[in-house]
Amino acid sequence: MSYDAHFKVWRGDADGGGLVDYTVAVNEGEVVLDVIHRLQATEAADLAVRWNCKAGKCGSCSAEINGRPRLMCMTRMSVFDPAATVTVTPMRAFPVVRDLVTDVSFNYAKAREVPAFVPPPGVAAGEYRMRQEDVNRSQEFRKCIECFLCQDTCHVVRDHEENKPAFAGPRFLMRVAELDMHPLDAAEGAGLDRKRTAQDEHGLGYCNITKCCTEVCPEGIKITDNALIPLKERAADRKYDPLVWLGSKIRRRGA
Ligand code: SF4
Ligand code: SF4
Ligand code: FES
Repeated sequence: MSYDAHFKVWRGDADGGGLVDYTVAVNEGEVVLDVIHRLQATEAADLAVRWNCKAGKCGSCSAEINGRPRLMCMTRMSVFDPAATVTVTPMRAFPVVRDLVTDVSFNYAKAREVPAFVPPPGVAAGEYRMRQEDVNRSQEFRKCIECFLCQDTCHVVRDHEENKPAFAGPRFLMRVAELDMHPLDAAEGAGLDRKRTAQDEHGLGYCNITKCCTEVCPEGIKITDNALIPLKERAADRKYDPLVWLGSKIRRRGA
């Protein structure tokens, strides 16, 4: 079934802009990105949109559809009433470059702030051994396609630009959690306490486990339940366990 859909698409740049109305044909089986491409091909040749794979794997086509952070290539037109208006706007938490394209460099900066995996001393590459359950735990987080929809939806930064310097956001707190629960990561032995840095440098305390990030993740990663809450628990154990506290003091003095 083909029909004409009513779209509102945000057009503009860093200096400002607004919603522009379009009526555009929709064919059976299409997704929002198909419609945006048709708009480019017909009446808005200069409409800026970022995309690559059209398969939900590159994480490029993130936007907000009727106010909800989503991948345009994975949002079927069939989920909308054909008579309803579909509104497409750029991700709100990041500065607009043009139209639906945002500057996501905040995320790259936060990625660089998380220290990499520290290889265990005395174990050659290729000799690493892990229990399957530890592999599975990391594997869930490794499904991330870096679409940054979780970063966009998190209320800590969504309307609070001032929180950005102190808060890494769910995607990168998840990365800290992944490394902290990695059985072969030798960070602690190298003087890097990932639980402390999660609190002091990546803003773990800002997260009040609302799970909004989890709700928008297109990979279905349980960011809050499987990464953020366990990291909070371990960070709290470390802070309030007197033996852990004493041990860390002795280690620091001996460092
Ligand atoms: S659970 Fe935490 S990180 Fe996720 S959206 Fe809520 S406050 Fe942000
Ligand atoms: S955790 Fe999910 S929502 Fe966040 S960047 Fe990765 S795939 Fe996207
Ligand atoms: S175009 Fe790659 S995730 Fe949508």
